[in-house]
Amino acid sequence: MHLYGTQSVNNLGHLTIGGVDTVDLANIYGTPLLVYDIALFRERAKAFKETFKKAGITAQVAYASKAFSSIAIYEVAKQLDLSLDVVSGGELYTAVAADFPRERIHFHGNNKSYSELQYAFDEKIGCIVVDNFLEIEWLKQISESRKEKMNVLLRVTPGVHASTHDYITTGQEDSKFGFDLKNGQADDAFLKLYNHPFLTVLGMHCHIGSQIFETDAFRFAAEVLMEKMVEWREKFKFVCPVLNLGGGFGIRYTAEDKPLQPAAYVEEMENVVLSMTRKHNYPLPEVWIEPGRSLVGDAGTTLYTTGSTKLVPGLRTYVAVDGGMSDNIRPALYGAKYTAVSANRMMDPHSDKVTIAGKCCESGDKLIEDTYLAEPVEGDLIAIFCTGAYTYAMASNYNRLAKPAIVFCEDGKHQLVVRRETYEDLVKLDIPLQQIESENVK
Ligand code: LLP
Repeated sequence: MHLYGTQSVNNLGHLTIGGVDTVDLANIYGTPLLVYDIALFRERAKAFKETFKKAGITAQVAYASKAFSSIAIYEVAKQLDLSLDVVSGGELYTAVAADFPRERIHFHGNNKSYSELQYAFDEKIGCIVVDNFLEIEWLKQISESRKEKMNVLLRVTPGVHASTHDYITTGQEDSKFGFDLKNGQADDAFLKLYNHPFLTVLGMHCHIGSQIFETDAFRFAAEVLMEKMVEWREKFKFVCPVLNLGGGFGIRYTAEDKPLQPAAYVEEMENVVLSMTRKHNYPLPEVWIEPGRSLVGDAGTTLYTTGSTKLVPGLRTYVAVDGGMSDNIRPALYGAKYTAVSANRMMDPHSDKVTIAGKCCESGDKLIEDTYLAEPVEGDLIAIFCTGAYTYAMASNYNRLAKPAIVFCEDGKHQLVVRRETYEDLVKLDIPLQQIESENVK
C-alpha cells in the first residue's frame, strides 16, 4: 500500500492525513470530501524553489491554478512566495479575493476576452502570456488607450509531442495554443510587439503537456526555445530576460507510474539553460515554471462513503460510492487510473476485488475498475488517492449532484476551505417561469 506525504495509519486502523483521522473528517464534514495535505503542497513548492537556488538561477515558480483554484490554496501559495498562473477572469477574480500579490500573477489562455484583458490591466498583474494575433491587437488597443504598461510573454509551440493523453498534449504544432516556432508565426508575433511603447516583451513561454514522465521532452523544449532566443538576438538584437518552460511534470497515480521527483524534471531544464547560455554566451534569463498537478495532485485525497454493492456473478462486484464522475471526471474522460483504500479499515486485508462505481446515471461512471479493498460493507469509508489536481476544478453538477466540501489538514488541524454545495445552491441560478406562455399548453 503506497501512502503519500503525511498520510499514516493510526491505532484505530484509520487513515490519517496531516495528523487528522479521516473517519473523524468524514463524520464532521460529510462525504464526498476532498482533503488536502498542505504540508505536502509546501514540500513540493519548496523543492521546486530550492532546485533553482542550487543552480544559481533566478526563478519564479507559478502555481498553475487551473489544477485547483480556491481562495485558500491561493493564500497558501502566497505564504510560500509562489507566483500564480490564472487562465480566466474567474481565476483572476479568485486571486484578487485572496489578495494575491498582483505582480506575481501571470494570465494565460488561448482565447482571453477583451474584458478579461481589461480586468488584467485594472489589476496591474505581472504578465500576460500572449497566445494569438487578435490578443496582440487588443492588448495594443487597451494599453494605448489607457497609456498603461503591461509585461507580455509569447506562448510558442515548440513542436514537441510528449507521450501523454492526446487531450492534454499542447506542445505539438497541431495545437490550438500559441504561435508556431517553425513557420514564422512566432517571429511575426514578436515583431508586432517589439518596441511597443506600452507592451514589454519579457520573452517566450511553452508548455508541452501534462502528466509527462519523459525528461527528453522537457529538455528538447528548453533547447528549442533557447535556440530561438539566440536567433532573435542575432536577428532583432533582442535578449530575452525571461524563459517560461511551463508545467506538466508527471506524478504517481498508480504503481505503473514511475515519475522522478517533480523537481528533477526542472533540473533537466536548468541544465539545458545553463549549458546553452554558456555555449552561446547568452545572459542567463530568469526561468519561470508553472507546475499544477505536481504541486497539488498527490496532496489531495477524496473520501467517499460506500452504499450499495452489486455482484455480477463471474464478472465483478460493484461498490457504489456517494460521488463519482461529477466530482472526478478524469477516469471517464481520460481513462485515468487511481488507487484506493478502505480508510476506516486500513489494517484489514485488502483482498476483495471490486470496481468502485459512482452514483451518476452513466454506465461509464466508474472511478476505479478492478481494485482491491477490505471486504466492502455499507457505510465504509473509501479514500481515493491523488485527487488534488483537475478533479474539483473540473467538477460538475451532473444529475444535480452537489459539489463536495474541501478541507485542508496540517499538523493535526483541519479547516473547511470550500463548503459543500446545498440543494439551495443547486437552484440558485434558476429563474422560475414568468412570462412565457404557450397557446399550446392547455
Ligand atoms: N501551464 C500551462 C500553460 C498549462 O496549460 C498547464 C495545464 C499547466 C501549466 C499545468 O500543467 P500541470 O503541471 O498541471 O501538468 N485536465 C487535464 C490536465 C490539463 C492540463 C491543462 N494545462 C487532466 O486532468 O489531466
